[in-house]
Amino acid sequence: MINGLVRTLLVACWLSASHIALSADEPGCLDCHEDEAGSVVHNVYKTLHGNLDGGGASACTACHGTSAAHDRRGRREAPDISFGPKWLSPLEDRNGACQSCHDNGSQLLWAGSEHEQENMACTDCHDSHQLRDPALDELSAQNQCTNCHTQVKAQLHLPSRHPIAEGKTACTDCHNPHGSASDAALHQVTLNENCYSCHQEKRGPMLWEHEPVTEDCALCHKPHGSVHPGLLTARGPALCQQCHSAAFHPSVAYGAEGLPAGSSNRNLLGQNCMNCHSQVHGSNHPSGARLTR
Ligand code: HEC
Ligand code: HEC
Ligand code: HEC
Ligand code: HEC
Ligand code: HEC
Ligand code: HEC
Ligand code: HEC
Ligand code: HEC
Ligand code: HEC
Ligand code: HEC
Repeated sequence: MINGLVRTLLVACWLSASHIALSADEPGCLDCHEDEAGSVVHNVYKTLHGNLDGGGASACTACHGTSAAHDRRGRREAPDISFGPKWLSPLEDRNGACQSCHDNGSQLLWAGSEHEQENMACTDCHDSHQLRDPALDELSAQNQCTNCHTQVKAQLHLPSRHPIAEGKTACTDCHNPHGSASDAALHQVTLNENCYSCHQEKRGPMLWEHEPVTEDCALCHKPHGSVHPGLLTARGPALCQQCHSAAFHPSVAYGAEGLPAGSSNRNLLGQNCMNCHSQVHGSNHPSGARLTR
């Protein structure tokens, strides 16, 4: 009972003391960084970040540090953490400022990710002083990505493609730009799981499975775009003959000289494998063992 009372009193004292301390220490950022026309600084109050920690100048210190050597008249030094344009803090400090709150959720695997290894800063994509952080807008985010990933950019306009440039699928539907546990920073643990997340019907299980399909969709498909229809890595029959002997079902074109040597199976010539093996992703038909139905 007495213990409880003492504790309540102590907590009350601590609360009021820390409150006083806070207001006495309220940094003077806003004295100089005024809300004038054209200044980007105060935009932060129109975003989520500006209203954390009670708003006011305390919101500034969450990212820039208390900055005592900067927060004064006279000879002014750099803020503790600055993202430029005048003073640029070391990369670890800049990323550390964001990671002090964002080291979880989708940012959990940032350390060790390909982008981190490439010395990228959170602020290469994010800008906390814009009314709308550009990385959170799908179209401007895609432009950021393709500014660096020019090869992918070119793939987005190939004849067969995922509708990414058309805005129906976004880079971030498949990739986590902060890194993930899988290759190519996919959201899912495997490439096939990534495909299944939108193409459920391909998941199976099938009565008759086609081994490469359950193994890795990328054995036959490109993820972004392809010159071949159906996002394929090659055209049939060449696609199939990477693994299946051409001798079994020769499918070269008829030549003027008649049938090429060894092509006993005449009815297959010149045809695409999928004309007959239409169930290339697997079959549920009792007699579909050859993926023909
Ligand atoms: C006494 C006036 C004053 C106070 C107080 C002040 N600043 Fe500044 N600050 C400036 C001026 C002036 C500049 C522009 C410096 C320049 O370009 O030479 C600046 C620049 C900055 C920059 C940009 C740095 C860069 O690299 O370009 C940041 C960030 C910043 N201040 C944050 C803060 C924060 C956070 C506080 C409060 C903790 C604060 N300032 C308090 C005057 C002040
Ligand atoms: C969520 C983190 C965050 C908060 C909160 C924040 N800043 Fe910043 N600040 C940044 C980042 C990131 C940049 C670099 C923006 C860029 O990429 O152009 C920046 C840039 C600046 C600049 C330089 C702007 C320029 O381009 O000349 C100033 C000045 C500044 N901040 C002051 C402040 C002040 C004052 C506050 C409080 C009102 C504040 N910041 C709150 C992250 C933050
Ligand atoms: C003091 C803690 C804190 C710091 C420091 C901080 N954030 Fe945040 N941020 C939050 C919280 C809390 C949210 C809202 C919950 C969430 O989305 O995680 C948020 C949300 C966001 C969002 C989503 C905003 C939205 O409108 O949905 C982005 C993007 C973001 N932060 C980026 C950054 C970047 C980049 C930095 C460093 C320049 C940074 N944050 C620094 C606490 C912080
Ligand atoms: C290569 C660009 C890029 C970099 C670098 C980057 N981000 Fe992001 N970030 C994005 C994009 C794009 C989104 C939107 C994600 C979406 O729409 O699924 C995002 C979303 C977020 C969000 C809000 C929603 C969420 O997914 O949690 C936070 C918070 C965030 N990033 C923090 C960070 C932090 C902290 C860093 C640095 C450690 C960082 N980002 C580095 C591109 C980037
Ligand atoms: C400032 C340049 C830059 C920006 C912006 C950028 N990247 Fe990257 N990214 C790189 C570099 C460099 C690599 C490593 C080399 C490579 O694979 O091309 C990389 C690697 C990757 C990888 C391979 C990751 C792995 O683990 O193998 C993916 C996926 C990726 N980026 C997606 C994105 C997405 C999505 C965006 C936009 C949200 C984006 N990138 C924005 C430069 C950038
Ligand atoms: C439908 C899902 C999906 C979308 C959307 C997508 N990707 Fe990918 N991306 C993948 C897959 C899957 C891989 C891995 C390919 C492999 O390992 O064979 C990959 C690989 C990558 C790589 C690694 C290098 C390479 O080319 O193989 C980069 C970089 C990349 N993607 C960037 C992007 C960018 C930028 C966007 C948006 C313009 C984007 N991706 C949209 C699924 C996607
Ligand atoms: C975020 C959802 C999403 C993911 C993940 C996804 N796709 Fe798609 N895919 C689509 C959409 C949307 C279309 C276009 C459908 C349409 O136009 O009717 C499509 C179309 C296709 C097509 C047909 C293309 C054509 O030219 O006819 C193929 C093949 C394909 N996807 C394969 C894959 C593979 C392989 C993966 C895994 C690497 C994958 N998809 C992951 C959404 C997705
Ligand atoms: C052995 C090669 C091969 C593999 C492996 C493969 N596909 Fe396909 N896929 C094809 C061919 C060939 C077509 C074109 C069929 C046509 O033109 O009739 C196709 C077409 C598609 C289409 C568009 C038409 C449709 O059937 O919906 C999607 C979506 C698709 N594949 C998804 C996947 C997914 C997801 C995986 C992995 C689970 C996968 N594919 C693995 C060969 C393959
Ligand atoms: C990456 C290698 C690979 C590619 C590409 C591939 N297959 Fe297969 N396919 C296999 C394997 C492995 C089996 C299983 C063989 C076995 O069980 O003896 C198989 C089985 C088959 C079967 C059933 C045969 C049987 O004996 O049960 C048919 C039919 C078939 N594939 C047709 C195709 C067609 C058509 C294509 C092109 C669209 C194709 N395959 C592309 C590897 C491949
Ligand atoms: C005109 C229809 C047709 C075309 C075109 C065709 N196949 Fe077949 N394929 C069949 C039939 C029917 C069987 C079953 C034959 C049997 O069981 O003896 C078969 C069997 C197979 C088998 C199983 C072989 C085995 O050992 O049992 C494979 C693998 C195969 N085809 C691959 C291909 C490939 C690769 C192509 C394209 C180069 C192709 N087929 C084109 C009709 C066709």
